[in-house]
Amino acid sequence: MCGIIGFTGNEKAIPKLVEGLAALEYRGYDSAGVAYFGGGILQTVKAKGRLTNLAARLENIAGEGITAGIGHTRWATHGEVSDVNSHPHGNQRTCGVHNGIIENYSELSAYLETEGYTFASDTDTERAILLIDFLYTRTGDPVRAMQEAAERIKGSFAFAVMFSERPDSIYAMRRDSPLLASPSDVGMFIASDISAVLGYTRRFARIEEGEVAVLTRDSIEYYTRDGKRLTKEYETTPWNPEAAERGGYAHFMIKEIHEEPTVVSGTVRPRIRDRLPYLDLPLLTAERIQSIRQIHIAACGTAMHAGLIGKYAVEKLARIPVNVEIASEFRYRNPILQPDDLVILISQSGETADTLAALRLAKSKGVPTLAVVNVPGSAIAREADAVLYTWAGPEIAVASTKAYSVQIALLYLLSIHFGKAMGTITEAETRNLCEELANAHQYIEKSLGLADHCRSIAEIYKNHRNIFFIGRGRDFALSMEAALKMKEISYIHCEAYAAGELKHGTISLIEKGTPVVAFATESAVFDKMISNIKEVRSRGARVLLFVPEGYAIPEDTADDIIRLPDIPEVFMPLCAAAPAQLLAYYTAVELGCDVDKPRNLAKSVTVE
Ligand code: F6R
Repeated sequence: MCGIIGFTGNEKAIPKLVEGLAALEYRGYDSAGVAYFGGGILQTVKAKGRLTNLAARLENIAGEGITAGIGHTRWATHGEVSDVNSHPHGNQRTCGVHNGIIENYSELSAYLETEGYTFASDTDTERAILLIDFLYTRTGDPVRAMQEAAERIKGSFAFAVMFSERPDSIYAMRRDSPLLASPSDVGMFIASDISAVLGYTRRFARIEEGEVAVLTRDSIEYYTRDGKRLTKEYETTPWNPEAAERGGYAHFMIKEIHEEPTVVSGTVRPRIRDRLPYLDLPLLTAERIQSIRQIHIAACGTAMHAGLIGKYAVEKLARIPVNVEIASEFRYRNPILQPDDLVILISQSGETADTLAALRLAKSKGVPTLAVVNVPGSAIAREADAVLYTWAGPEIAVASTKAYSVQIALLYLLSIHFGKAMGTITEAETRNLCEELANAHQYIEKSLGLADHCRSIAEIYKNHRNIFFIGRGRDFALSMEAALKMKEISYIHCEAYAAGELKHGTISLIEKGTPVVAFATESAVFDKMISNIKEVRSRGARVLLFVPEGYAIPEDTADDIIRLPDIPEVFMPLCAAAPAQLLAYYTAVELGCDVDKPRNLAKSVTVE
């Protein structure tokens, strides 16, 4: 999604804006632009496409004396991808950048037209910035103009705005879209994401809804909705700049896959004490858990797939019913929620609009909420009744990999904790499971040894336009994630199917050479899986089988086999994730795709 960076200080602003935008590239974007005060007027430079296009246009600007500016990466919502639709927008007096969606932009257009405004772009942003401009001409006060505009705007937003009459200042506000203000030794920053400023500072304050932040060269002031000055405490992120760098790997995605053993261990081990789960949250006491009628998990994409693995684990170990839902469906279908339910929201970014809305819906019905989130201090983490952080560090590649593994690992720990509280597993079983989970990273490390094998299989897969992924039970959930990973970065169409369901229609698509990736890691349904594989093979499918090392497989079951390390069976998804991700990664690399920034995708999906 879009990214915002702003800087005002005593050093050149343009290099900092470009650096900040580069750090925000991972969020996904299709054009970029900056605004700064130069030669006595507000200037904008914009370019469609990659940031390098913008950087090339900025090359001839010496930047001496330009010490304040705002920058933006745009992920198009209203209007095509073009220079003119890129941000910043505005006029000679007022210029701004925006993340989010303005829902009443037609109404604002009509209103502004009656006030004599015309528009250069098709964007909702231009209308919102011109509304701020109009209110500024009326009030002469940028803070009031911002606040009055916020009252008239419907939708989500984070704005950073400059006014030509206040050349060193940046004004910022937000609603439902993240925005941070960060003081540093070189000047003051505003950013939609802490990664944009990590090279200068780890301190930040979240701007809350209704507040306006005013950045000048050496201070940041905050104003409440009724115009009062506010003192804010600054937080320090645990993330460091190195964590957000590629560190010698060709892509962030492969670096992040290789981090999985470390981050899984770092997420799980500190939460195990004396070989028992240590989840010290009032929401998760044994009494509270025993009174849960039903768990709902709401999440999107990969996080939802992690939720499906969580469902299998919780139902197996704790026998509590779990309903997993895509957050964008959950939020609008008036789900049956009761006060003795528990709603778990899973999100890497903690900012996904639909997941946040699902959280708010649950809260409005008085249902306790637990967030499983990676980004510290994100909206979902802050608004939920309780939060379990996944501690994976920054995930930069758009395709989620390490975040998925830590989400699964934490859900396993949660299900062991639930099982112990429910008495569905004994204390001895709890300790064994905890010990095995604490050692899971060793098996994941072993599974990374399959990288070369995955690469050689990718050379075959890259030549296909359709791939099926099949599995039963927990392996079906794995198939869904493996298929998503493959399609989002390699652009090969993939379909995940419950293996037993193929024969009810989809098997008609299998013909000679159709690739089918089969996961067979559940002993209870292993024989059934082998039969399903035989069904597709006998129709000509080329089968790649993911199967644990210790399983004997009948001769001539598959064309290619990936043998997964023999982690205790319940935890098998932790070992299958990395090889499935590696298969997608190498296929995309072979095809020359932009692995870290796949087309049309955004890292943090802050619109619904
Ligand atoms: C796919 C992917 C997405 C995200 C989804 C939710 O690789 O990354 O499907 O999982 O957009 O994002 P978060 O976890 O930030 O809520």
